[in-house]
Amino acid sequence: MPAILLDGKKLAQDIRTELAEEVAQFTGSGSPVPTLAAVLVGSDPASEVYVRNKRRDCEKVGIRSELFDLPESTSQAELLERIDELNQNTEVHGILVQLPLPAQIDPECVLQAISPLKDVDAFHPENVGLLVQARPRYLPCTPHAVQQLLVRNELPISGQHVVIVGRSDIVGKPLSVMLAQRGLDATVTLCHSRTQDLPAVTRLADILVVAIGRPNFVTADMVKPGATVIDVGINRTDAGLVGDVDFSGTREVAGHITPVPGGVGPLTRVMLLVNTLSAARRLES
Ligand code: GUN
Repeated sequence: MPAILLDGKKLAQDIRTELAEEVAQFTGSGSPVPTLAAVLVGSDPASEVYVRNKRRDCEKVGIRSELFDLPESTSQAELLERIDELNQNTEVHGILVQLPLPAQIDPECVLQAISPLKDVDAFHPENVGLLVQARPRYLPCTPHAVQQLLVRNELPISGQHVVIVGRSDIVGKPLSVMLAQRGLDATVTLCHSRTQDLPAVTRLADILVVAIGRPNFVTADMVKPGATVIDVGINRTDAGLVGDVDFSGTREVAGHITPVPGGVGPLTRVMLLVNTLSAARRLES
């Protein structure tokens, strides 16, 4: 029997409906409209699409978004100056600098310059530290999306063996920390390019999360029958958008699986809205 699909699009819609209500209550009680500043440097086509979609999502729930569309030639000093202005601007609650940045700009330096209180991506070292210490200020968007997909579909996490493929700062590393924490209580294995006999490890997973950015990398033979497979990959190929998991083969083995598109992606964007409302609450209280 093919796997049950985990519908991220539908779940994202449900959460947006909840959020729209929360935003309306927030502004209805006299607070200002939560505002996200989105900074885009250069004209990477994928980044342009991501930022456009994020701004569209804001509109749907009553969050204001402002776009700062800077030229490819922007220097690091110019970008830091712009971030400083946004840090000082009391009308702005969340700041998002879309990655990747042009080569002349050091992303680490830029992400550290964003006020940790306005860091709705949760990339600032202070926010990463708080997350590791189990007292998060904001949860990073993609790991939060994966967690919500599991929790809201009532898939057990406690005591389960979660195998994560990919140790990026944005997905694998923070997700491994979150799922292992008290309350969620998973047993986590974090795999990467040097992992020996990766298929033997992934076959141990009750929940397999794949975030390495390689199209169709995980195949059916790497999955334990009945496992939950969460595909974080978004790869643009000649065949269109595909995930990191070979969907057609793997769905015949897995118990639950996310499609690409329509799985983790839409939920990741919603988590940015959750953090922007949370930032507004924090800054306006
Ligand atoms: N580029 C790819 N993913 C992300 C993300 O989650 N946040 C930002 N700011 N840029 C990205």
